[in-house]
Amino acid sequence: MEIKKVGVIGCGLMGSGIAQVCAQAGLDVKVSEANDALLQKGLGAMKAGLSRNVEKGRMTKEDMEGILSRIKGTTNIADFSDRDLVIEAITENMDLKKKIFAELDKICLPTALLATNTSCLSIIEMAMVTKRPDKVLGLHFFNPVPIMKLLEMVKTIATSAEVLEAGKQFGEKVGKKVIVAKDSPGFIVNRLGIPFMLDAIRMLDSGLATKEDIDTGVLLGFNHPMGPLTLCDMVGLDTLYFIANAMYAELKDPKFAAPSLLGKMVAAGWLGRKTDKGFYDYK
Ligand code: CAA
Ligand code: NAD
Repeated sequence: MEIKKVGVIGCGLMGSGIAQVCAQAGLDVKVSEANDALLQKGLGAMKAGLSRNVEKGRMTKEDMEGILSRIKGTTNIADFSDRDLVIEAITENMDLKKKIFAELDKICLPTALLATNTSCLSIIEMAMVTKRPDKVLGLHFFNPVPIMKLLEMVKTIATSAEVLEAGKQFGEKVGKKVIVAKDSPGFIVNRLGIPFMLDAIRMLDSGLATKEDIDTGVLLGFNHPMGPLTLCDMVGLDTLYFIANAMYAELKDPKFAAPSLLGKMVAAGWLGRKTDKGFYDYK
């Protein structure tokens, strides 16, 4: 089950990073978006990140050109018919993800592995819309993908041992340390991390401290690389809101309930860095 040809569905924050690290590892990559404007935006963000690496002397211009030559953009899911592995990285919404999995199952080679980058949703639910649940797994990358060293591989009750081994080898090939989690809401990392981010928003909302002091407290008090509100802005407040709602619906534990301030910011279109405004201004 050697993986040489990879497909990535969605070229947003995560999909563009996943496509990039796969191409950096020498794999042949196709990445899709909902329309051409979004595809060009995602590919543009990837090129900007790679160009910064060239400017900083971390890679040569030839390296960058080689990486980009291994990535083909498309808006047609039928182009994934020759892939060994397809990783879905679209919006955190079960209905949309199930629709993609059902389509992929029809289009892809019977041997192809189908993975999701979901942050918290049930992977067996996605697997059961396909005729290959043994070949469905979670490959949960972390943001920003080119920098973060972790890959959380998620096994459902149906994922085969052979598929998990292929997933592990793929993760190591793209330069990540692979940990294995069970298919439960938020897996390992988000089960711990999402309540922390939501608590920081609750603390701000209840007026206990300023956003700057909450972030500085965690930055210096715990030696985290960034404060939790800055992290929320980086994750995307829409994505965080989808994750919180899905985890609360599943676990019914109030620590996963979305704070009202988060809902209001999403309604206002303040989604964090991606819209230049979240808890902080990025213009
Ligand atoms: N994309 C790609 N590369 C980036 C980047 C981005 N968004 N942001 C920063 N970098 C890289 C750059 O190469 C940068 O170097 P240059 O500016 O010299 O080019 C390098 O990181 C260092 O960046 P900075 O000096 O600007 O800032 P930093 O030292 O704070 O590092 C960081 C940035 C790596 C993002 C660091 O702050 C960090 O690790 N933050 C925490 C990230 C984290 O917790 N991610 C997990 C989110 S949760 C998740 O992913 C799961 C989920 O399901 C929601
Ligand atoms: P995003 O909003 O930046 O990107 C999602 C992209 O998917 C959008 O550009 C959208 O146009 C595209 N899309 C939607 N439907 C599509 C379709 N049918 N075909 C092709 N593209 C389609 O979101 P993101 O932050 O990249 O999150 C993507 C997934 O990764 C989610 O499941 C999220 O929970 C997960 N995730 C996010 C983070 C994070 O920090 N943001 C970290 C780990 C995992």
